[in-house]
Amino acid sequence: MSHKEKLDRLAEARTNSQLGGGQKRIDAQHDRGKLTARERIELLVDAGTFEEYDAFVTHRSREFGLDSNRPLGDGVVTGSALINGRLTFLFSQDFTVFGGSLAEAHAQKICKVMDMAGKVGAPLVGINDSGGARIQEGVVSLGGYAEIFLRNTMLSGVVPQISLVMGPCAGGAVYSPAITDFTLMTRKTSFMFVTGPNVVKTVTHEEISSEELGGADSHASVSGVASLACDNEADTIETARKLLSFLPQNNADDPPIVACDDAFDREITELDSIIPDNPNAPYDIKDVIKHVVDSADFLEIQPDYAGNIVIGFGRLGGKTVGVIANQPMVLAGALDIAASLKAARFVRFCDAFGIGLLTFEDVPGFLPGSQQEHGGIIKHGAKLLYAYCEATVPKVTVITRKAYGGAYDVMSSKHIRGDFNYAWPTAEIAVMGPKGAAEIIFRKEIAAAKDPEKALEAKTEEYREQFANPYKAAERGYIDDIIKPRETRARLIRAFQTLENKVDTNPPKKHGNIPL
Ligand code: HXC
Repeated sequence: MSHKEKLDRLAEARTNSQLGGGQKRIDAQHDRGKLTARERIELLVDAGTFEEYDAFVTHRSREFGLDSNRPLGDGVVTGSALINGRLTFLFSQDFTVFGGSLAEAHAQKICKVMDMAGKVGAPLVGINDSGGARIQEGVVSLGGYAEIFLRNTMLSGVVPQISLVMGPCAGGAVYSPAITDFTLMTRKTSFMFVTGPNVVKTVTHEEISSEELGGADSHASVSGVASLACDNEADTIETARKLLSFLPQNNADDPPIVACDDAFDREITELDSIIPDNPNAPYDIKDVIKHVVDSADFLEIQPDYAGNIVIGFGRLGGKTVGVIANQPMVLAGALDIAASLKAARFVRFCDAFGIGLLTFEDVPGFLPGSQQEHGGIIKHGAKLLYAYCEATVPKVTVITRKAYGGAYDVMSSKHIRGDFNYAWPTAEIAVMGPKGAAEIIFRKEIAAAKDPEKALEAKTEEYREQFANPYKAAERGYIDDIIKPRETRARLIRAFQTLENKVDTNPPKKHGNIPL
């Protein structure tokens, strides 16, 4: 064979591998409103930086006529590229080849980029669009999944892992995204479930659509499985790029510093009057967050799930912080099971990757009720407490208003290694709210009063005056300073700068036993 013929052969093989399942299936993919595996990669990575691996890999199966159908690449495109100028490993399942189904060779390709991501210390992005285990290949498909799950677990806390679900993701296949740090789903065209609507109907007689059972909105608002639901594929991919821009490359790396033209000492006069006069009136904690972070740029995670707590990434002075904030607009900001789970996982992600924690606190306590108690609020609330306790990254807390009861302890208090704990003058730090407290400690006086209702009001006010403020906590040093709300940004930036080289450790152990 001449040199030219050899080059022609390479070009032909390359073209073949890029065709996936052929034009007809590519058209069908487009007709479903979906992009192909390669088009998605093009959108995801910096132009011209994609380096493909294993384009010529094929399966080795013979059963069910597979020996005469051996598409190059085996239904998944893998490689590395730059995203926002930084190295990232990725895989993108090709639904046009055997429905993106996973089998031995397909899994080996994914495992190769996962291993590379771990060795090199760079994030992993997986684009999922697959009919699940390739039925013709049987148990080797299941083995392939298990190899991926193992690697997802080994990489957890080592490099950031992001899953984009942009098509079917069913059966055991869902457990790879579930182990990764963030799962982004596309509305209308993606779904995730352990068992699909047909099986559900057979077993339980319940009739439910794919969308309702496992669509993006169901997982973003009901189950909490999805970190974010995005309107379309371009939006999903853009969101992944944005998310990566906040994250370090690995657990030994610092989060990227982004040039910041927002003045470090910017005064925020609006914050001085943001807390309503009525202590039970709500305000939007997201307004506080957006006022404080650089250029109001805040990427909220799980915005539609457990709205009583807000989590997400922002920057202070150019450096990433993970924000956790009680939201008085929903359930008065009370902590419930869902909020505890949501925030606990986020705190642990930030701690694993050296991202400082900024906590805004306005919490009346844990949500009461048999539903919560029987659902296990004790163990689920303990997860959040545990996560904050074990976190050794810089931890800065601002109590804007209520910090009552056990929730005061949980929300990154001084006692569990909060580094800087600030309070606004509007803070109320006490064992419980004034009315509840007055009802208990002045029960006899109130009962004996001529007008018990008035007496309760008076005693409530007395308690509020004495205890519902930040000064008792400040006297003990539980609060490092009471700050003017307008100075919050400047004080926070200074606090995180002070903590830049913080070193704190936990005792040596195999691993702790977080109350799962
Ligand atoms: C082999 C598959 C496949 C699979 C789809 N295809 N799923 N091939 N193994 N698992 C093929 C189809 O034969 C078809 O090939 C092409 O992909 C497109 O599929 P369609 O059915 O035409 O597409 P659509 O109507 O969009 O439906 C997509 C789908 C459906 C919902 C994913 O294909 C489906 O239900 N597939 C089976 C899903 C499943 O039960 N998987 C196993 C789950 S158990 P042609 O040649 O016609 O284009 C599992 C265990 C994992 O995954 C365990 C891990 C622990």
